[in-house]
Amino acid sequence: MTMKLLLSEKRIQQRVGDLARQISKDFAGRELLLVGILKGAFIFMADLARKIKGPVKIDFVRVASYGSGTCSSGKIRFTKDIEVSLKGKDVLIVEDIIDTGVTLKFLRRCLRARRPRSLAVVTLLDKPSRRKVPFQADYTGFQIPDHFVVGYGLDCAEEYRNLRGIYIVK
Ligand code: PRP
Repeated sequence: MTMKLLLSEKRIQQRVGDLARQISKDFAGRELLLVGILKGAFIFMADLARKIKGPVKIDFVRVASYGSGTCSSGKIRFTKDIEVSLKGKDVLIVEDIIDTGVTLKFLRRCLRARRPRSLAVVTLLDKPSRRKVPFQADYTGFQIPDHFVVGYGLDCAEEYRNLRGIYIVK
């Protein structure tokens, strides 16, 4: 197995700073509830939350791709649900990578039903060439080609999540 650097720590931090500035501007004067999707988003979430100016609250959700769930689609189920009400809140879903789009399409539908004031999605990485269902994030860090990537929260069999950069694994 070989690993090739795709995005350095410096590039990632710069881009997370850009995203945080844009989000801070768009939500100026409002309190944001950041909802991170476990596990992959935990490092992006931590950096983004610290770079956003203004009040933020934090929660996490974890979903499994298949199984009988509470969501009407039946294609995802919550293995850990959000612990607060979303009603009337400005909610920003924080994701590490969008691949087929299935996770976020159904998660967004589920969370919208809980009547937040607004619901937006930020993803660090996007692989548009892999989409099975149409999905567009509101904020995207980097569009990347269809390679298997690890680091900065992303894993290969649970390893490498703690790398500071993002690497292509071959
Ligand atoms: C990855 C990633 C997204 C999802 C994207 O999670 O973090 O949540 O897959 O895929 P999709 O667009 O095809 O639905 P994964 O299932 O690997 O879990 P993890 O975050 O715990 O590693």
